[in-house]
Amino acid sequence: MSGQESSGGGKVYLVGAGPGDPELLTLKAHRLLSRCDALVYDSLVPRALLDLVPAHCERHFVGKRRGHHSVPQPSTNAVLVELASRHSLIVRLKGGDPFLFGRGGEEAAHLAKHGIAVEVVPGVTAGIAAPAYAGIPVTHRRAGSSVTFVTGHEEIDKARPGVDWQGLARSSDGLVIYMGLHNLRRIAAELMDGGLDPATPAAVVQQGTVRGQRQLVASLGDLADRVEAEGFGSPSIVVIGAMVNERVPACAPEPADAEMPIPF
Ligand SMILES: C[S@@+](CC[C@H](N)C(=O)[O-])C[C@H]1O[C@@H](n2cnc3c(N)ncnc32)[C@H](O)[C@@H]1O
Repeated sequence: MSGQESSGGGKVYLVGAGPGDPELLTLKAHRLLSRCDALVYDSLVPRALLDLVPAHCERHFVGKRRGHHSVPQPSTNAVLVELASRHSLIVRLKGGDPFLFGRGGEEAAHLAKHGIAVEVVPGVTAGIAAPAYAGIPVTHRRAGSSVTFVTGHEEIDKARPGVDWQGLARSSDGLVIYMGLHNLRRIAAELMDGGLDPATPAAVVQQGTVRGQRQLVASLGDLADRVEAEGFGSPSIVVIGAMVNERVPACAPEPADAEMPIPF
């Protein structure tokens, strides 16, 4: 066993990998990755980061493989508990920020319940970085005072309540939608039923911050048709609201020449 990060049992760090561009990794995440004894990661983590771990590091992939579902959450929890019994420093690497639509909270609670030391290391979330790499600020004084991060993913197991899209249309100046492409037509219709003008500006950024990044800007009324016609796919962030009109293409960074696998 190596690593000096905990006394007694191992310690699990829930680490944000950032949105894809390896340079958006935090210094803390870099330090932990370069010292860890075990690494548990899923689909949306930049491949370049996997090269940072030491040669002795035990790796576990718990994401989706083609034709298969992700490893079920209880199995991932069990892997983390087991690794903490054998190793000192375990990194649980998650795309973006671990606590934003990443089940980091569930894993932290599970580990704490089992008496295992756990610490979260926040990461740069895709909902801010992908729009930024298209020059879109997620807030702007001319575009109101609120922005909502929301998932467009329909929960099959109903583990969380459905999103009140009509309510959001009335209450939030801007929306940043994760996992929204699949249900985009219904989401857009609900938002318009809730009072949003079909002319409201919207954008989609696919594969943000890395090789293959592309984006489109459309009106809310046209958005689903454009996404379909232009073949946009996952992973994508959808931005809806007046902040899209405030985009400054000149400030958009070049996407990194880095590979981030498309989730199956
Ligand atoms: C399960 S959520 C995880 C979000 C992550 N915890 C974060 O903070 O960015 C996965 C979704 O994040 C979005 N996403 C993640 N990486 C992305 C990227 N590089 N470009 C665009 N969208 C991305 C997509 O909507 C994708 O379906």
